Amino acid sequence: MSAKFDFDAPNDRRGTNSLKWDSESVPDILPMWVADMDFKTAPSVTEALRSRAESGIFGYAKTSAAFYESLVKWFERRHSVSYKREWILYTTGVVPALSATIRALSFPGDKVVVQEPVYNCFFSSIRNNGCEISPNPLRLSGGRYEIDFEDLEKKLSDPKAKIFLLCSPHNPSGRVWAREELEAAGELCLKHGVFIISDEIHCDLVLGGRKYTPFLSLGERFAANSATCVSPSKTFNLAGLQVADIIAPDESARSKIDRALNVNEVCEISPFAIDAQTAAYSGGEEWLEALKGYLCGNYEFLSDFLRRRLPEFSAMDLESTYLLWIDCRATGMKSEEISKLLYEKGRVRINPGTLYGKSGEGFIRMNIACPRSSLREGLERIARALK
Ligand SMILES: Cc1ncc(COP(=O)(O)O)c(C=O)c1O
Repeated sequence: MSAKFDFDAPNDRRGTNSLKWDSESVPDILPMWVADMDFKTAPSVTEALRSRAESGIFGYAKTSAAFYESLVKWFERRHSVSYKREWILYTTGVVPALSATIRALSFPGDKVVVQEPVYNCFFSSIRNNGCEISPNPLRLSGGRYEIDFEDLEKKLSDPKAKIFLLCSPHNPSGRVWAREELEAAGELCLKHGVFIISDEIHCDLVLGGRKYTPFLSLGERFAANSATCVSPSKTFNLAGLQVADIIAPDESARSKIDRALNVNEVCEISPFAIDAQTAAYSGGEEWLEALKGYLCGNYEFLSDFLRRRLPEFSAMDLESTYLLWIDCRATGMKSEEISKLLYEKGRVRINPGTLYGKSGEGFIRMNIACPRSSLREGLERIARALK
């Protein structure tokens, strides 16, 4: 445990209008599904929000120079990438950002290529904009996902394919894409005139000394053909405050995205969102390092538990995020069957793998961003349910 930040401390979230904790109609379900954490955010964020709350005035807000500066410096310092102030647009979340960007850069009937299994809201954002999903399934090799580049080129070369929606790092598998993989995908997109939207919401939760490569760091050619979406929301547990940023170096793409944010009416953010993002990016670094250490500890605890007590569950290496992608095919059960069993017998809620596309069959996704005592309880419940 970090001496300064107590991630072991339980936080009772029941009765707080929490989607994760207050959604069940039956009592005593342990939620290990939706991607938010059971930890308090960084003290710098709480302090900024306290100060805003104490002002007692919550009128319309305007982003400040510090809002942009903190983001630019964060990415320079932590990820060695330079973003210009004028490339940055803001909105109420990464899903609204993806939706507006798809709307801006496609027409109904166009195809958007995604790498299944993938974050489920990708599917709804594509469909809600009248576009078609074109799946480029990831390939499992030695328990790790790889990009099937041959199939990717096939999908990108379809004249109806206009956007490649990349999840980097990848949810639900946690895979951190290597520079070479991103370059190869970027080249194919340039070759076939397909724009890249890179969802990098999980970029600050890359674990164990691995390196995240921002898509916009690959060079000007690639950057001009892409937009990146980021947010401090996963990293600092701020999802309910609704803030995200789109970084679009190409002026023409950026002005279309800006227009779509306005048409979708998601171009205003709250004073709390502005303060929280600024405080996270300017004062949250030490807390984040401690959090990542704790998450690695949780992953080790879970891996040890699975080895000893649940050998039919095989967790992927946690390269990033706090979302464990677990291969349950050895049980012979389907994802939905396992989820139902864990819910009804184990009283644990996880996400069935098929939520992320057909290729998620036989997998489940489990959120391990909770105090270790809660993780232990969840795993004991799962082991009992499967007996
Ligand atoms: C890849 C990815 N993108 C976007 C989101 C949601 O972003 P927001 O809540 O900012 O809309 C999530 C949440 O889990 C996610 O995993």
